[in-house]
Amino acid sequence: MPLKNSAAHYGAVSRFLHWSVFLLFVCQYVGANIMTNLARDKSLFGLSQGDYYNWHKSFGLILLALALVRFIWRKTTPLPDWAPTLSEAERAISHRNETLLYWCMFLLPISGYLFVMAGGFGIKLFGVYDLPNPIGKQESLATLALVAHIVASYAAVVFIAWHVGLGLKHHLFDRDGFLNRMLPFRRQ
Ligand code: HEM
Ligand code: HEM
Repeated sequence: MPLKNSAAHYGAVSRFLHWSVFLLFVCQYVGANIMTNLARDKSLFGLSQGDYYNWHKSFGLILLALALVRFIWRKTTPLPDWAPTLSEAERAISHRNETLLYWCMFLLPISGYLFVMAGGFGIKLFGVYDLPNPIGKQESLATLALVAHIVASYAAVVFIAWHVGLGLKHHLFDRDGFLNRMLPFRRQ
């Protein structure tokens, strides 16, 4: 599979970035649910609540880096043409929805970062290295960032649901092989 996108296909780099971001999103939602529900003195699969918080923060920052690479890649590498089976309306909504997904890829980790730094909680990267806090404690910024983080996390679920729903509808009901455009190791 070529590395770059062609007029008809997504290349290996776009597919790798798409699915690695997806996997990290899954980890973030699963981890967030565990860490916000686990009691402080309890552990799950050998990990304490603090460990889950550390992994959530660390994976979130990795996701931010990948989102940045992905955004630059998208801006500098032409996308393939739309799938011919997408209607005009589906193209227009998908275009808006993809923009909103990119906003979430940035807003979620940035708001999370601002919340923990302004809240004075800090980040111990993968439980090993304490990141410096360039912001210092700021109560109102922490509250604002937390609200943004929670709102964006619910909004992202809606955008992802539309995105996945459209893909599955085309692939399974219209049987147009739509998901092959992005699935790894598959070509249309
Ligand atoms: C794309 C990346 C991220 C996603 C999808 C994500 C998602 C979530 C979700 C779903 C929650 C639970 C919200 C709720 O209470 O209903 C949460 C909470 C939290 N996130 Fe993230 N997050 C991301 C990145 C980050 C980053 C980078 C940090 C910090 C560096 C962070 C720090 C936190 C903290 C501290 C909480 C707990 C807030 C509380 O006490 O209620 N998150 N996140
Ligand atoms: C965190 C979850 C997801 C996000 C944030 C996301 C985001 C995106 C974005 C922004 C694009 C446009 C291409 C690009 O800029 O890379 C795209 C394309 C695509 N995604 Fe996702 N995606 C997610 C999950 C999924 C899932 C679970 C599926 C499959 C069920 C899927 C199937 C596709 C397909 C088939 C395309 C190509 C669409 C086309 O160009 O016609 N995505 N995705």
